[in-house]
Amino acid sequence: MSDLIASLKNILGEQGVLTGEDVRSRASTYWDRGPMRAKAILRPGSTEEVSACLRLCHSLGQPVIPLGGNTGLAEGTASQDDDVMLSLERMRDIESIDVVGQAMAVQAGAVLQVVQEHANEHGLRFPVDFGARGSCTIGGMVATNAGGFNVMRHGMMRQRLLGLEVVLADGRVLSSMTSYLKNNTGYDLKQLFAGSEGTLGVVTRAVLRLNEQPVADATAMVALASFEQVVAFLRFLDSALGDHLCAYEVMWSDFFELNTGPHADSKSPFSQTYPFVVLVEAQGNDQVLLPQLFEKTLEQAFMQDSITDAVVAGSEAERAALWGIREGTEAEDRFFRKTIGFDVSLPISSMNTYVEKVQSRLKSVSESAVLLVFGHLADGNLHLTVGLHEEDVPREAVEQVIYSTLQAFGGSVSAEHGIGLEKREYLHMSRNPEELSLMRQIKQTLDPANILNPGKIFIV
Ligand code: FAD
Ligand code: MLT
Ligand code: ZN
Repeated sequence: MSDLIASLKNILGEQGVLTGEDVRSRASTYWDRGPMRAKAILRPGSTEEVSACLRLCHSLGQPVIPLGGNTGLAEGTASQDDDVMLSLERMRDIESIDVVGQAMAVQAGAVLQVVQEHANEHGLRFPVDFGARGSCTIGGMVATNAGGFNVMRHGMMRQRLLGLEVVLADGRVLSSMTSYLKNNTGYDLKQLFAGSEGTLGVVTRAVLRLNEQPVADATAMVALASFEQVVAFLRFLDSALGDHLCAYEVMWSDFFELNTGPHADSKSPFSQTYPFVVLVEAQGNDQVLLPQLFEKTLEQAFMQDSITDAVVAGSEAERAALWGIREGTEAEDRFFRKTIGFDVSLPISSMNTYVEKVQSRLKSVSESAVLLVFGHLADGNLHLTVGLHEEDVPREAVEQVIYSTLQAFGGSVSAEHGIGLEKREYLHMSRNPEELSLMRQIKQTLDPANILNPGKIFIV
């Protein structure tokens, strides 16, 4: 046993340090299901243990990769044989809930769905939500500044943070577990760590901002004839439903048809195909008035020819079935040999032109490539999945098409998933040299030995 592993076992005990087959039996990343590569997985049980591990690793220049639920989509947890993974899996506690102050203190390893359920039990709600809810952790969500379905109404992870505790690379504990909204006492340090992807510190605890639990929701799948209608319908809903509107998830027809076709587990609620389908959700506190307002709004849109067809969920099961179409990934896994996913943002008004340009340029890379487009339209965020039937299409060629086309629209190469390793070579397209230089200075100040997730986001 190496000196490092022996010293780590002294800090964490035998169960706190996994090696050998216990490391290799885990998947490397969400995309790479091959064996995890690392000297060890550390499983601290407290902030003090995280601190002691980092102090030791810092003194030895040992690279450390923070690990949550490993559901990140940007290869942020990719590792090498010499790395040490630091998992928050033994720090999953919900510490306290303040019902009056609408705040919940949790350890960073707490799983999103557990946090959501705990808030619900107290008549409250933690509104950040997306498909990985059963596995992703609060620490990983802070580190990637995760977004999801309700950002238009409730913001991304950084808007839901009241307090944060982080262990810095050298083991110092930066604790600011405040549970109130306003705190203008100098720099808001916690925000530095939102979206830092494990490169600036290890998140150990957080205080999350909750809302009242809505008692009524209304969900519909709406078919539209053109992109202009998709945009106009969003504005119409915005003015008709106001703050009730919380999700506006667009699906281009290729995505919708695949996710309701023979390879999918879901079925279309429509009897014909349409160019665009949008999943709309509204929430409120009146079980009678909200559905009435929602249906009246859809009827009005229909009468004005603003929308072509609509199906309103009549039960929780129907609502789940509609969301199943949006969240499903099984059809693309079954149909394509290989898929490459993208997460871009750009002005809403440019989206359709952008998609058409990408579609036509992709043909030069692969004649049979299929572009599936969906996403959080109201946030200016599209997800593009390129489906390939050939194994040998170079990933870089596809990336070039997506990102070089995006540059002309002033878009961002990552809207919500982060940079990780996957988009590192393209970061300069969305950030100018001054921004990149300041990011490097911040990294060098907080992690001078470059031990925390080295090489992710950028090379120092
Ligand atoms: P990991 O995957 O374990 O880690 C992600 C990054 O955070 C890595 O760089 C890691 O080093 C770092 N990290 C992890 N824990 C800590 C910590 N405690 N301290 C410091 N750094 C840490 N994202 C969205 O924004 N919107 C979506 O709609 C969305 N939908 C998704 C749907 C599916 C099916 C999946 C699989 C993912 C989706 N994601 C989405 C991606 C999202 O970024 C991750 O699911 C989540 O934020 C990562 O949490 P995790 O605990 O799995 O982190
Ligand atoms: C989503 O919105 O479903 C996610 O961000 C995941 C994806 O891009 O595939
Ligand atoms: Zn998303």
